[in-house]
Amino acid sequence: MKAAFVTEPDATDPAAAIRVGELDTPDTPDGWVRVDVRAGALNMHDLWTLRGATRRPHPGPHVLGSDAAGVAEGRDVVVYPVLPTADGRAVPHATLLPDAGHGVLAEHIDVPAGHVVARPAHLDWAEAASLPTAWLTAYRMLFAKAALAPGQVVLVQGAGGGVATAAVSLAVAAGATVFVTSRSARKRERALALGAAAALDTGARTPQPVDVVIETVGAATFEHSTRSTRVGGTIVVCGGTSGFTANLDLTRLFAREITVHGSTMGSLEEFRALLEFVTEHRLRPAVDSTVDLADVSTQAARMLAGTAFGKLCVRVA
Ligand SMILES: NC(=O)c1ccc[n+]([C@@H]2O[C@H](COP(=O)([O-])OP(=O)(O)OC[C@H]3O[C@@H](n4cnc5c(N)ncnc54)[C@H](OP(=O)(O)O)[C@@H]3O)[C@@H](O)[C@H]2O)c1
Repeated sequence: MKAAFVTEPDATDPAAAIRVGELDTPDTPDGWVRVDVRAGALNMHDLWTLRGATRRPHPGPHVLGSDAAGVAEGRDVVVYPVLPTADGRAVPHATLLPDAGHGVLAEHIDVPAGHVVARPAHLDWAEAASLPTAWLTAYRMLFAKAALAPGQVVLVQGAGGGVATAAVSLAVAAGATVFVTSRSARKRERALALGAAAALDTGARTPQPVDVVIETVGAATFEHSTRSTRVGGTIVVCGGTSGFTANLDLTRLFAREITVHGSTMGSLEEFRALLEFVTEHRLRPAVDSTVDLADVSTQAARMLAGTAFGKLCVRVA
C-alpha cells in the first residue's frame, strides 16, 4: 500500500524527512477494523514526528498522521485518533495512533473497531478528515473546559490555525460572540467570513473583556490573553505554536480570578458529540488546501511557513 512515512527524522528540515512509497499492508488485529482511507489531514504533531521529537514505537518506517476519513466495512467513517488505554478506556490523553505505530496517512489502516464514527453526510472527504484532531481539541476546549454558554464572548488567538478555525465555527454555532486575532489581514478577513464578530491585529485591544480565550499560539499571545480576559473568565490552552514559555502576570491572574485550563484532544464520547454538533449545525471545516499523497511534503512546508487558513489536507484515494 502507498503511505507517507518517516525513517530518518530531520530536526532542521522536517518537511524534507517525509517519504511517500509502498509499505506492506499490515494484518488487522483482533477487535480492530480495516479502513480504506480516502483523505487525511496534517497536524503540528506530524511536524514533531518528522523532527524526531515524538515517540517512535519501532525503528522501521513510521507512518505519519492522526487524521483520516475513509470506508470501513462499507460505511463512510471518520477515525477517532486516540488509542484505548491498556484497560480498554478511551481517554483524551492516551496515545495517538501514529505514536503507537498506527499512523493514518496510508491507503489501508487498522483502528480499534469502536474508533470509527459515521462521516457527517454533508462533508466531503477532506472536510471529514479535518475533524479528528483540531476540531475535537477545539470542541473539548470550548464545551468541556470553558463550559461555553450562548451569549458569551470568546477570543480565539491565531485565527488561521486548525484548532482556531474550528473554535471560531463551533463557538459561533453555539451562540457566542467571537473575536479573533491574526498577524495577517487575509486571515482576519477569512475569520470574519466564518462568523467572527471582530478580527484584530495580534495584540490589539479587544472591543470588550472576554469570557473565554482559546489559546493555541502560546508565547506570542499569552500575555494578551490574560489582558483580554474579564474578571472570573477562563483561558484554555492546548498548544504553543510560537513557543511554550510565556509571561504570566500573576497580579492579573489573581486580581481577575482568571481560571487557566490545559486541554488535550478529547474523549470518544466528545468525538461522537462533536460529529453530531457538526451535523446538526451543518458546519464545514475550513480546508486551506488538499494535495495528493505524493505531494504531502508541500503541506508540511505550508504548515511550517504558517500561511495556511484551516486544515492542510491530503487526498489518499
Ligand atoms: N493539545 C492538543 O491536543 C492539541 C491538538 C491540536 C493542536 N495542538 C497544538 O495547538 C497549536 C495550534 O495548532 P494548529 O494546527 O491549530 O495551528 P498552527 O498551524 O500551529 O497555527 C496556529 C496559529 O498560530 C499563529 N502564530 C504562529 N506563530 C505566531 C507568532 N509568532 N505570533 C503570533 N501568532 C503566531 C498563527 O496565527 P496568524 O498567522 O493568524 O497570526 C497560526 O494561524 C499547536 O501548538 C499544536 O501543537 C494541540
